Amino acid sequence: MKKEFSVTPWHVTGKVNYEKLIKEFGTQSVSVSLISKVKNPHSLLRRGLYFSHREFDLWLKDAQAGRKVSILTGRGPSEKMHLGHLIPFLLAKSLQESYNCPVYIPISEDEKFFVKKNLSFKEAQEFADDNVLDLIALGFKQGKTFIAKDFSYLPVYRNSAKIAKLISYSTAKAIFGLKPENNIGWTFYPAVQAFHILWPQFAEGPHKTLVPVGIDQDPFIRLTRDIATHSTLNFQKPSAIHSKFLPSLTGQAKMSSSEQENSLIYLSDSAEEVKKKINKYAFSGGKDTIEQHRKHGGNPDIDISFLYLKYLFEQDDKKLEKIHNDYKSGKLLTSELKNILIDKINAFLKEHIKRREDAKKHVDKFILE
Ligand code: TRP
Repeated sequence: MKKEFSVTPWHVTGKVNYEKLIKEFGTQSVSVSLISKVKNPHSLLRRGLYFSHREFDLWLKDAQAGRKVSILTGRGPSEKMHLGHLIPFLLAKSLQESYNCPVYIPISEDEKFFVKKNLSFKEAQEFADDNVLDLIALGFKQGKTFIAKDFSYLPVYRNSAKIAKLISYSTAKAIFGLKPENNIGWTFYPAVQAFHILWPQFAEGPHKTLVPVGIDQDPFIRLTRDIATHSTLNFQKPSAIHSKFLPSLTGQAKMSSSEQENSLIYLSDSAEEVKKKINKYAFSGGKDTIEQHRKHGGNPDIDISFLYLKYLFEQDDKKLEKIHNDYKSGKLLTSELKNILIDKINAFLKEHIKRREDAKKHVDKFILE
């Protein structure tokens, strides 16, 4: 029987049923009571984009008790960054602010070089350097945030080797669905990402690490949890918190470069481009004519502009609720809703571009060589 959807680290197809994934992967769902324990929870957490976890509660307990904890999430530099790529980093930053803990950010140029047929060795490295500037621009704490690239950080290879020895080929194949035609880089890479996930413990000794990440990355989490406590490592099992995919403007489940550029907002887009893309492509829950819309109202819950405000750009609950209600009643028109989002995104990107320029002066304070 053909599955109606499939989620792996390399491919996402079909309409994802997230409840089913929780069962299939054997993770826990993020509950209201769990969120209520988090200090200043980010809108991504409060409003449900992060929906699943593995032992986030245990990480929180240690964080709240003042024990050593860390956060880790990585970036596969396959292209320039768009809004969807920010999801794990925004939560990492928010938790760093709440708990004053270190954040580790590995950059996997090797992964993207192996997996993307048309990505050259040089391009993978160029995207790595480019993406690092966007990450620093998000405002992580200097001195408590460590970025390392797989091709230049020496401990990557030796520690991945220790891990590779603990993973059989058949385990890797079962977890990652490796295909006969895949180059052998794909086979080794899971050991590298398992190292990433344990990197804070290699660096600072055993403690709880939290990995905010898209649910497609859970196979790496599972694999790493299985080997973390092996007697040659003696680490703690890492915790994880998983997000759904931020829909693209046209409403696809996962933003990726294979979709047209038009359906994604890149961090490098000009104010004009943002305006054009949202107006032209953002899927609307509004009615076909203004008369109809005024009379029957729109559906904010399927409206991409509303969803972007909800998850990313409107932190104020009261303001968000007003937008929701006004759109539903027909008081707020689609063009007006889109304008609210356009202004928010452009204000964010204007700041981002400045901070990105500034980041160029500080790269060496974040990157480990
Ligand atoms: N594989 C991830 C991606 O393609 C990037 C990544 C590399 C990562 N190392 C990581 C994510 C460690 C989480 C933890 O997006």
